[in-house]
Amino acid sequence: MPSKAGKIFRDSFLFHWYKNVSAPLEYAWWRMRGSPAGKIPHWVKQRAIRDTARAFGLRALVETGTNYAHMIRVQRRRFREIYSIEIDAAKAEGARKKFARFPAVHILQGDSGEILPRLLPELREPCLFWLDGHDFDRATPVERELAALFAHPGQNHVVLIDDAKWFNGHGGYPTLGSLRQRVARDYIGHTLDVHDEIIRIFPEPSLSKLQSSPDR
Ligand SMILES: C[S@@+](CC[C@H](N)C(=O)[O-])C[C@H]1O[C@@H](n2cnc3c(N)ncnc32)[C@H](O)[C@@H]1O
Repeated sequence: MPSKAGKIFRDSFLFHWYKNVSAPLEYAWWRMRGSPAGKIPHWVKQRAIRDTARAFGLRALVETGTNYAHMIRVQRRRFREIYSIEIDAAKAEGARKKFARFPAVHILQGDSGEILPRLLPELREPCLFWLDGHDFDRATPVERELAALFAHPGQNHVVLIDDAKWFNGHGGYPTLGSLRQRVARDYIGHTLDVHDEIIRIFPEPSLSKLQSSPDR
């Protein structure tokens, strides 16, 4: 829980300036240490979203877990629409204020396990999902989010899920093995891959697009 001063800082644009400066340094330090598993730099996640959107031509981003909206800040010019769902009312309000001048950024406050199933039928194009709303390894709405996505097959959505390390059958997380089986069974035409601790669920014939991306 950040102090009052910490919250004021995170709710300000100085926070994004600081993160933009520190992210490449954090990434370089991580690479120098041999890219250890565990805490993957935010920069890797930013690039995964950028590269996946480019490879699949996706122009709408749906994020669960807004936090202090740094991912929105980084991606805001890359997408035509951004939806971000945050359970914490103060964080959601902070993000709304930051992006009040961006009509394409939609901050939805509430539990993404409830809001995502209601949002999905409203989406009119293939989207990139960044499922990252959780209380660390203790609790996650990911099962409900995935059930809603799997109930809408044939949309050519691409799903990235952060923190593959927690998919071990505890805290509401399925195991990676059971998730792989469910994708094969319930999300016909999609395949699952894990890279840099990001679970990636793609429409199957398109997997080669990402593998041939020049930045990888
Ligand atoms: C790791 S942070 C998200 C980071 C952000 N997506 C990024 O890429 O920079 C996790 C966020 O998820 C939020 N959260 C936790 N449970 C949630 C839920 N059930 N629905 C929506 N948000 C949730 C937390 O309040 C926290 O802000």
